[in-house]
Amino acid sequence: MYCYRKIDEDLYWIGGNDHRLALFENIHPIPRGVSYNSYVLLDEKNVLFDTVDWSICRQFLDNLKEILKDQTLDYMVINHVEPDHAASIEEVLLRYPKVQIICTEKAALFLHQFGFPVDGKLIQVKENDTMSFGKHNVVFVAAPMVHWPEAMVTYDTTTGTLFSADAFGSFIALDGKLFNDEVNFDRDWIDEARRYYTNIVGKYGPHVQTLLKKAGTLDIKVICPLHGVVWRNDFGYLLDKYDKWSRYEPEEKGVVIVYGTMYGNTEAAASYLASSLVKKGLKNVVMYDVSKTHVSYLISETFKYSHLVLASVTYNLKIYPPMLDYINDMKALNLQKRKVAIIENGSWAPQSARLITELLNDMKEMTILGNNVSINSSIKENDMPSIDDLADSIIESME
Ligand code: FEO
Repeated sequence: MYCYRKIDEDLYWIGGNDHRLALFENIHPIPRGVSYNSYVLLDEKNVLFDTVDWSICRQFLDNLKEILKDQTLDYMVINHVEPDHAASIEEVLLRYPKVQIICTEKAALFLHQFGFPVDGKLIQVKENDTMSFGKHNVVFVAAPMVHWPEAMVTYDTTTGTLFSADAFGSFIALDGKLFNDEVNFDRDWIDEARRYYTNIVGKYGPHVQTLLKKAGTLDIKVICPLHGVVWRNDFGYLLDKYDKWSRYEPEEKGVVIVYGTMYGNTEAAASYLASSLVKKGLKNVVMYDVSKTHVSYLISETFKYSHLVLASVTYNLKIYPPMLDYINDMKALNLQKRKVAIIENGSWAPQSARLITELLNDMKEMTILGNNVSINSSIKENDMPSIDDLADSIIESME
């Protein structure tokens, strides 16, 4: 059964939601679901903008059929070939065999690689190419590495609508809502939008900056991403977040403490530091157990805050494995420009501070604060002054 939303006179959202998928990309938990957005424009030529994940293909096809009724589909603009958007292309080709696919040269290569029967159906476009569908004229804008190399965005110059592919997307199913002003984004969505951005696109900050500069030259009235809400106002809020995230600048002055603990002793040291910070007046402090918190949440919080504390037990003379995974993920996602304090623990040969320092020194603009604190087995009264000193170093480094 169809379930679509109208965006403006000629444009419709015909996507759907997936609440059953546990892990997005089979990696990232999505407890609040995700939407796959597809859009159809009715004009002299009818145009589909991207398809959807296979999981909601039936819903999408019902929506498309209901909007088109007995009209044909002339074009399918494929801004991004990742299967969460491209998986349903073949079903569209089967139902609308005359449709032509508009995409970049690299997207054409990927479509072949994924095995879609697109021979003779492709119209390849490049940066600043234009097309007219009747009333609506569009320009194609390359967006390589946002989030794959073939990606582009499409701007409808008639209405000021930007079909932004993965850019400006978010986790969370829409559940009837569609527009940003139909949700309380800053209260209910921002954490999941950040977690989506930082884990999916976070590595490619410079490419996102390039796209933001291009977007800055357009008179944007509506942003239609491939996941999450459609934006029709409050662009300053959204662009400010994207600008900060893609420059790896923190959103807030504050401290995220991530601790790796086996029996609670390293946690006790981390808790003492948190308490010391708060008593000294720094209240924006959050703590996470690295073993219990999926790394995608840790990455998101690390992008959010200005300061990071890594408190890790030593394990087999190495960094505690979940802590190592988290630090490696930070590096893989190009995280940089953070001020970091380190606490290590070990019963006979504490090593984690030295090893963590080596990893951080291999990342960009990571500043290690104060003297590393080294705990032997458990925190004792004579450890407290060095942790209090570390708290002072953190507070002094808050600009
Ligand atoms: Fe939502 Fe890169 O695909």
